[in-house]
Amino acid sequence: MTDLQKIISKAYENLPIEKRAKPWTFVNHGVDLLKNEDELNCYLVAYGKMHEEKIHSALSTLTNLKEIVKNKYQIIDWGCGQALATLCFLDFIKGSLDNNKPQSITLIEPSNSAISKAEKYIQSITQNNKNQLIEKRLDDVNLSDIEITEPITINFFSNILDIESVNLAKLTDLIKNNLKGEQYFICVGPMNATSTRIDTFAKLLNCTDEKLIGKENGKLKTTRGTIKLLVFKIKGKEIEIIKSIYYPPMPKNNNIMHILDKKLNAINSNNLNSLDKIMEYYKLVVELEQLKEPAVDDYNYYTYEINENNDFVIDLESNPNFLNIFNINRNSAITRWPKDLNITLEIGIEEKNIRF
Ligand SMILES: C[S@@+](CC[C@H](N)C(=O)[O-])C[C@H]1O[C@@H](n2cnc3c(N)ncnc32)[C@H](O)[C@@H]1O
Repeated sequence: MTDLQKIISKAYENLPIEKRAKPWTFVNHGVDLLKNEDELNCYLVAYGKMHEEKIHSALSTLTNLKEIVKNKYQIIDWGCGQALATLCFLDFIKGSLDNNKPQSITLIEPSNSAISKAEKYIQSITQNNKNQLIEKRLDDVNLSDIEITEPITINFFSNILDIESVNLAKLTDLIKNNLKGEQYFICVGPMNATSTRIDTFAKLLNCTDEKLIGKENGKLKTTRGTIKLLVFKIKGKEIEIIKSIYYPPMPKNNNIMHILDKKLNAINSNNLNSLDKIMEYYKLVVELEQLKEPAVDDYNYYTYEINENNDFVIDLESNPNFLNIFNINRNSAITRWPKDLNITLEIGIEEKNIRF
């Protein structure tokens, strides 16, 4: 169990029984300032594990983290709440990264009860009581609050940039005036209506559309929820995108067990022979998988060959119509938001054509 997970478990034990089952109903996604012990614990129990996973996946993108923490470095946790991002980072470096702790940690958070808890949790792990506590909204932070004293700074923006009361223009002006040394920006947030604010934030720091687009898609592995993740580095005038991950929200009718039941009941397996049962199984698996993807409008047909290495080989040029669509889609001068390419296999078995 990580230190953060121990903290979450303790928070669960400390919650009154009636709040344990649906802790998220008491905290409005953590957007409002949390006021008391119960609200702080509800937040940790409701979102702690999910945020830990997001921050963990963001930190995993920093392939040079071992080098970073060998140097002197500092952390700024913006809108830190109970400092989940910093706690997760401290867990992350504990194992394999020689536990080279930061020279200083600056916590920025307007809720007095949250920032006090954040400090207490960090102290219990680092045994260091030199953290800077800035009990302010981001709009009120001054340059003197976030002094850069080390050659490397790791900035955490964990589930804060989507909060609309944060003035991104003001925030990025402040950061631009404070760009000393090498600075890493770890931004994670939900994929909701305001999640594009992470892109806006990066663009206000002079990151171009081209740099932002074209990074990989990904998804959270074990817990519910969608993420928007952006990790980038600024050194001098250079901005380098390290990773961006988008995960589309679940379909609107997202009662997934209900959908599954409906789909399973629609198959009458009594009349099926064993081959049909296998086909129905694969069709259902593919259909459920596709529920998460955008609808497919057009099919373009290709024949394929299987080469000596058992690879499926498709000759794109053999269908000029699709080749043209493909070339337009990948030409960033014409297409701003390229579409995904979905490949469906049509397999003929015993005179039946089955499309996967
Ligand atoms: C969703 S929580 C995220 C907390 C923490 N970063 C995390 O990942 O768990 C949002 C936090 O932002 C704080 N907050 C709300 N408005 C803010 C503002 N204008 N400036 C700074 N923080 C704000 C809230 O008090 C809350 O702690």
